[in-house]
This record gives sequence, C-alpha cells and structure tokens, in this order.
Amino acid sequence: MLRKNLGILVVLGLVVLFLYYASYFYDPTHDKKNAYINYTSDAAGMEGMVVSASSYASKVGIDILKKGGNAIDASVAVGFALAVTYPQAGNIGGGGFMVLRVHDSIITSIDYREKAPSASTRNMYLDSSGKFDPDLSQFGHLSSGVPGSVAGMLYALEKYGTMSRDEVMQPAIDLAENGFEIEPKFAESLNANFDDFSEFPSTKKIFTKKNSLNFFAGEKFVQKDLASTLRRIRDDGRDGFYKGVTADMIENEMVSNDGIITKEDLANYQPVERNVISTNYKGYDVYSMAPPSSGGIALINLLNMIEHDPVPDTNNSIDMANYYHTVIESMKRVYADRSEYLGDPDFYKIPQQELIDKSYSKERRREITDSITPSSEIKPGLGVIHKESDQTTHYSVIDKYGNMVSVTTTLNNTYGSCVVVNGAGFLLNDEMDDFASKPGEPNMFGLIGSDANSIQPNKRMLSSMTPTLILKDGKPLMILGSPGGGKIITSVFLTILNVLDFKLPLHIAIDKPRFHHQWLPVYLQTEQGAFDTAVTNILQQKGHRINEIGDYGNVCAILIDWNRHIFYGHADRRGYGIALSY
Ligand code: GLY
Repeated sequence: MLRKNLGILVVLGLVVLFLYYASYFYDPTHDKKNAYINYTSDAAGMEGMVVSASSYASKVGIDILKKGGNAIDASVAVGFALAVTYPQAGNIGGGGFMVLRVHDSIITSIDYREKAPSASTRNMYLDSSGKFDPDLSQFGHLSSGVPGSVAGMLYALEKYGTMSRDEVMQPAIDLAENGFEIEPKFAESLNANFDDFSEFPSTKKIFTKKNSLNFFAGEKFVQKDLASTLRRIRDDGRDGFYKGVTADMIENEMVSNDGIITKEDLANYQPVERNVISTNYKGYDVYSMAPPSSGGIALINLLNMIEHDPVPDTNNSIDMANYYHTVIESMKRVYADRSEYLGDPDFYKIPQQELIDKSYSKERRREITDSITPSSEIKPGLGVIHKESDQTTHYSVIDKYGNMVSVTTTLNNTYGSCVVVNGAGFLLNDEMDDFASKPGEPNMFGLIGSDANSIQPNKRMLSSMTPTLILKDGKPLMILGSPGGGKIITSVFLTILNVLDFKLPLHIAIDKPRFHHQWLPVYLQTEQGAFDTAVTNILQQKGHRINEIGDYGNVCAILIDWNRHIFYGHADRRGYGIALSY
C-alpha cells in the first residue's frame, strides 16, 4: 500500500516538475489573438522608410534609398545630416550605437561610443575635498570624451554599405554650406541656450546672432566651417577627422582651454563591432545593444520579467493598476542591477548571460508582491546608477530588401559640452558625465554607478541608449529607439508593450504618455495622463509615490508588415521629426 502511494507521489512530482520547466518554453503567441499587430500609422510606404528627429535628415535618407542605396548608406547619410540640421544631438563630435540587420542573415552592432581621453583619472571631477563637481563633467572642455561617430559611421559604410563617401556625405555638406531653414522648435532651442553658447567664443560665433538677437523660424542657418570639416572627412575618410587639420583644431581647442584630448587619443580611436544581445519575447525576437550600453540588457531583462504576466483588460482599473504595479516594480529591480553590474566590457567583467537569462528574470519577478518594495530594500540581484542627459537622438531606417538599421547617437546634454571646435564648426560631447565620477553618487539623470563604470583612461562610459530591432519568424517587424537619458530604456520598453501586447497602432503606441521608475530616486516619474484617476489611486494605495514630470523621449520607429511589404513609421509627437517613405 505504502509502496503504491509512493509510486503515485513520485509520478505526481514528475508531472509537476515537467509542467514547471515546460512553462519556461510556453509561447503565448501560439494563441492567435496574441499574434495580431495593429498595422496603421500616419506614414506608410513600400520601398523604404526613414524616421528621424529632423525632417531634413529624413529627406536625405529617403533620397539615398531612392538613388538605390541600401539602409546602411541611408543611415550614414542621415547621421551626417543630423550633425548639421539637429546639432542638439546629431553629431560628429559625439558617439553612438548602430544595431543592424543585413543580407537577411547578419544581425550585428557597431559601438562607436566615446572613450575617456588617455589622461583621464578616476577622480578628475572631484574637488580637493572629494566633492563631485558636475560643472566640470557636464560643460566645457574637460567634459568631452574622444568622439567616435565619424569612425563608427564610416566603418558601417565601408563594411555594410554600397555607396561612396561622396554620395552619402554630399547632402550634409550642402546643408551646411548653403544652409537650411530653421524650424520653429530649433529656433526656440537655440534661443533658450544663448547663455551657455556665449561662454565660448567659437560657439557664440555659430550658435548665437550678433547683438543678442533671437533666431526665428524660416531664416537660413549656414555652417561654413562645418561644411569644410565634412569635406575633409569626405575626401580623406577617418583621417579627415582623426588626423590632419581637424585633429590639429581639436588639439588646439583642448590645449588653449585645459582640455585633455590629444591627437594621439584621436588617432587611436577605433569603433568595435559587437554581438547584439537578444531574447525571444512571446515569439518575437528582440535584438538590442550590448554593453557599454546598459540599454539592451535592461530592456531584455524587463521583457523577460513581464513575459508571463497576462495582458490586462484596459477597461478594468484594478487589472490595469495591478499590471502597472508589476511593471514598475520590475523597472526598479532592473535599474538596481544596472547601477551595479554594467560598464565597459573591455574593462569590466559583466555578468551578461546571467542578467539576460530567463530564469534570473523569473526569480526577480517572484520577488514582486501586491505591495511595493521600498527602493532601500532592493539590492542589485546578483550581488548603484549615474546621471545622463535627455538629449540624444534616434533614427530608424529600412530598405526594400529588409535591411534594417537602428541608430541612437548623442552628445549627451543638449548641444553636448557647448564647445564648438574653433574653425571646425562642430560641437564636442560632454559624455564624460556618463561615467560614475564618484561611485554611489547620482549623475545628471539621477542614475547611480559603481566601480564597473568608474573613470579609467581609454574606457567607454556606460550608456542607456537602446537601439533595437524586432523580428518575427526571421522577418523584419519593428525598428525603434529613443533619446531620454536614463528614461531611454523604459521609453523603448513601453513602446514595445504598447505594440506587441496592447495592439496599439504605432503612432498611438509612441505618443501615449509614459512612466518611469529607476529605483533611485524613490518615486515614480510620470508624464501627464500616464494613468487615469482610478489607476492612480490604486497605485498610490499600494505605496507608489508619483511625481509628474514634463514630456520626455522622442521615439522614432518603423513597424513592418513584411507579408504585404508595407512599412509604417512615426516620429514622436514630443519632438519635431518626421517619418518619410516611398
Ligand atoms: N548620454 C546618454 C546615454 O548615452 O545614455
């Protein structure tokens, strides 16, 4: 009798174990309803699509596609054009990440993040009493890392493009040489930064008007020095930037102003092609940027954590509040991990596989209960984050062959360090502020960092940029990314949930008010209208402290119906970019 019961118990135990492990492999998209995507948006085309933060740059990209260039040619042309028409973040004096899919088979990424100059030191932004001085890491010559954008874009063009430098760079050169009409929001942005621009004569000369007059919409903005620099790059490739006249100008700028970037730093700069990191979320393959960006790991960890939570009924406030509660609590845990484990993989051993493993996310998900866990009780799960600026820019490109490009690039702060290299006409970044200048203290974005992201010569600073591609059954489905400093990751994450789970059309998915929790500070940050009153009340009852902030992010995304070969695109209502197709 005892033996018979024991046998039944063993069989039952094996069934439970089988069901438990099978749940790891359960794919909810086998449910037909879940596989539905809402393919409507404000821009659609069949041959190619470019979405960027500047209408001029989007036009440049579309023209390249029309001339027979592939998505990589178009994205490089867009990148150089943004350096002219969107100097808030478009750049040749900054850095970025490109995630790309080419020839139907290769999915890879190019890391052209800036590097700390070789004369950098761990405590370079601390004063004699050991206090962190953000003015030094966010503004002026000492705040700049060695720029990577030119090297990265040219690497992409040479390896994966089909056109010449001449062809992809000429539109940007023409925009700089002949000028372009200032959009209303660009005029506002230039006028708002007048005081900072006036600190540096080389910047004042280009970005302010004589007698402190305001810029106005519709007037021409001409950048002759920048046109000459772009011509040197066009003619001499990377040597046109990292050596010769341009490098001399950068070094002179540094020497005369206590900056530390040298010609040797410039000549030594190399981009790195890195493996992307990926997950399968409910049957969709998501590919994003590996470290030195935290974006990919954090996005994947968030998706993995939420994967088995049922999509709530949007008409049921209790359901919605419970779901948002889980999402917010997941964000807190992911940002706690970001603070501790992430930095430049060439300098620090990152537990990448552990962090993106679904069993780790499952364990972290199990920690979430019906009420909030105070941030003070959440520790990085395998064992703190730093400040980043809201100004960065993202662009998405697809061509008719299905080549996909997702690029996020930045100067860090709006207009970076605010230093224009005298004679060369371009702005330098203030990316050094993305390091943890004093581990444990928050950066510009309130993000805290650990030793993994401490300053070391030639090291890349941690980023939140999250250029992302999504494929379904091996076919293109979505390209997206955003600016927003530490909020980039959650802007991309929420947009994905809105499309894949809530079945919203792309433009609504992007324009919907967002929310963000990064573990520290301890409150939830929301755009106006992120939750209705009933949901807000329930979240507050659970203990969430809600702080309404201004709009953030500027998602530029493409959604692809590959079966009908139609591309849908949208540029965020928060910016003034545009989706163009043909
Ligand atoms: N500077 C913003 C970022 O790299 O995340």
